[in-house]
Amino acid sequence: MAAGAGGEKRILCVGLVCLDVISVVDAYPAEDSDTRCLTQRWQRGGNASNSCTVLALLGAPCAFMGSLTPGHAADFIVADFRRRGVDVTHVAWQPRGDVPCACCVVSAASGSRTIVLHDTPGQRRGAGLPFARRNLPDVTERDFARVDLAQYKWIHWEARNAAEQERMMLRVERHNSALPPAQRIRTSVEVEKPRDDLLPLLAHGDVVRPGHAHPATPRRRLVFISKDLAKHFGYGTAAEALRGLRGRVRPGATMICAWAEEGADALEPDGTLVHADAFPPERLVDTLGAGDTFNAAVIFALSGGQSLRDALTFGCRIAGKKCGIHGYDGIV
Ligand code: ADP
Ligand code: FRU
Repeated sequence: MAAGAGGEKRILCVGLVCLDVISVVDAYPAEDSDTRCLTQRWQRGGNASNSCTVLALLGAPCAFMGSLTPGHAADFIVADFRRRGVDVTHVAWQPRGDVPCACCVVSAASGSRTIVLHDTPGQRRGAGLPFARRNLPDVTERDFARVDLAQYKWIHWEARNAAEQERMMLRVERHNSALPPAQRIRTSVEVEKPRDDLLPLLAHGDVVRPGHAHPATPRRRLVFISKDLAKHFGYGTAAEALRGLRGRVRPGATMICAWAEEGADALEPDGTLVHADAFPPERLVDTLGAGDTFNAAVIFALSGGQSLRDALTFGCRIAGKKCGIHGYDGIV
């Protein structure tokens, strides 16, 4: 199959899938207390995986690429991807390791989500960690080499194993350089975790080999910077963060930073700042995956030809709606 139903090209999200065990509590519990939750559910989680859920609900043909290892958790996860119509052909099945699992406490009083994730990165195998044997390796450049790029119009990476991911991005750049602009794959990367090893991804595969100019694809790449990363660098607003971090991002990229109830800002390559207000729901009930929802909705809108301003507004509208419901059903 060359693309989605009707010949439409698809969106690929590369990153984490995990099992979220979500306890909804009436108020966040005190440490070392013993309380009952209101409800509890299993949910497929992980940023790239959640973004696929949202893309599918918005009606975009999409595929997920990330690691799993066979077992009960993977059975649950794959069944859920299929239920949503997300293509799982590119899942990298690992012979060993554990499927990452997160304990998530969602407070019904505030809508806050507190996440404790078990997900030891594969590259640290053998580094003396007590749980090294539990590692699940991440998707590699070799796995990515099997992806038929002709099927895709957009590829999004959740920053994880930066060196491998940079090589995946370079493959897409090489592919793009042989194509007329209208047929090039658009790319985006989300740098969420404030980890030094992920920062090179802000420059987004910006590797210049002597004698080789960059493929001429400016304006087409998108960098999502999280509020956590912005705060880590000492910024107090999305606009400050975008202006301050601009020097770390490859020229020609558009930067986006979402900021919960403040909405989101974007910085265009020419320095124009765009803002969209948040759409607060009547009651905040579940903010787990709000950022992943925002990213997916922005990508959906931009890939459909909407302007940056409209895409940002759409992202905030869908993410706001998500915050007012448990899970994802009902966001559209
Ligand atoms: P995360 O922490 O999940 O990565 P953010 O908190 O930055 O994500 O929120 C992403 C988007 O979700 C925001 O731009 C906003 O549109 C929406 N959002 C999140 N929290 C709220 C809130 N409390 N009220 C309204 N919208 C929100
Ligand atoms: C939400 C989420 C959860 C997961 C955690 C991983 O953004 O993807 O589904 O448990 O973050 O960091």
